[in-house]
Amino acid sequence: MKKKTVLDILNMMEKGEKITMLTAYDYVMASILDEAGTDMLLVGDTMGMVVHGNPTTLPVTLEDSIRHTQAVARGANQAMVIGDLPFGTFQVSAEEAVRNAIKLVKKGNAETIKLEGGSERCTAVRGILNAGIPVMGHLGLTPQSIHKFGGFKVQGRTEEAANYLLEESKSLEEAGIFSLVLEAIPWKVAKKITEVLSIPTIGIGAGPYCDGQVLVTYDMLGYFDFNAKFVKRYINLKEHVLKAVQEYNQEVREGKFPDLSYSYD
Ligand code: KIV
Repeated sequence: MKKKTVLDILNMMEKGEKITMLTAYDYVMASILDEAGTDMLLVGDTMGMVVHGNPTTLPVTLEDSIRHTQAVARGANQAMVIGDLPFGTFQVSAEEAVRNAIKLVKKGNAETIKLEGGSERCTAVRGILNAGIPVMGHLGLTPQSIHKFGGFKVQGRTEEAANYLLEESKSLEEAGIFSLVLEAIPWKVAKKITEVLSIPTIGIGAGPYCDGQVLVTYDMLGYFDFNAKFVKRYINLKEHVLKAVQEYNQEVREGKFPDLSYSYD
């Protein structure tokens, strides 16, 4: 099956086809999301919360990101793989950002990278692009700035804040990003940004008018207890897993599993 590229994603937007993106952190889940036809797999730094159990994404390291991206890349036959630059790997200087983006591609097998932030990241974005790596931006509620925002709070609610987001989006587009994640902002603000930009916007808690949507996979599967208005649970996987594991525990304790049909002669 043909691998999706940045050009395919841009073509989808031009044809008005909605783009799907989900997070993945391991091989098995990546294979399933890929088989289901998901367009882009983001090895998001939400791994710090969902996989590693931290309260924020801040402790994630470049090595974590590389290791998980390697696993996801092995499972992605058609989906495009996006590696996420973790907190502290791109803020200090543009040179460091370029160096770390290259590592994520070279060692992690990422095909594109994502980084959080606005116009203050434009020099880094240009440098990474000069290294031949496509960049996805991320604005709105950027979880790496959680302490600045004072919590997981919707951004862009005032006219001033909405205009600021629009201007930041334009700066990032001008710097050359191929796509922009908009997180937790009012749908009208996301709609306006989507109309103004000529690159695809990918929304998470940003309403229906973005060019594509992303969710944290373990949230939409009901596997992780993260409650936000924008999370639709397509299945309550935790309930199914709990039930299966409780049944296994009981059968082992009662000597019912394994019976001879699960045993070698
Ligand atoms: O790290 C992540 O998973 C993300 C998505 C929530 C967009 O940035």
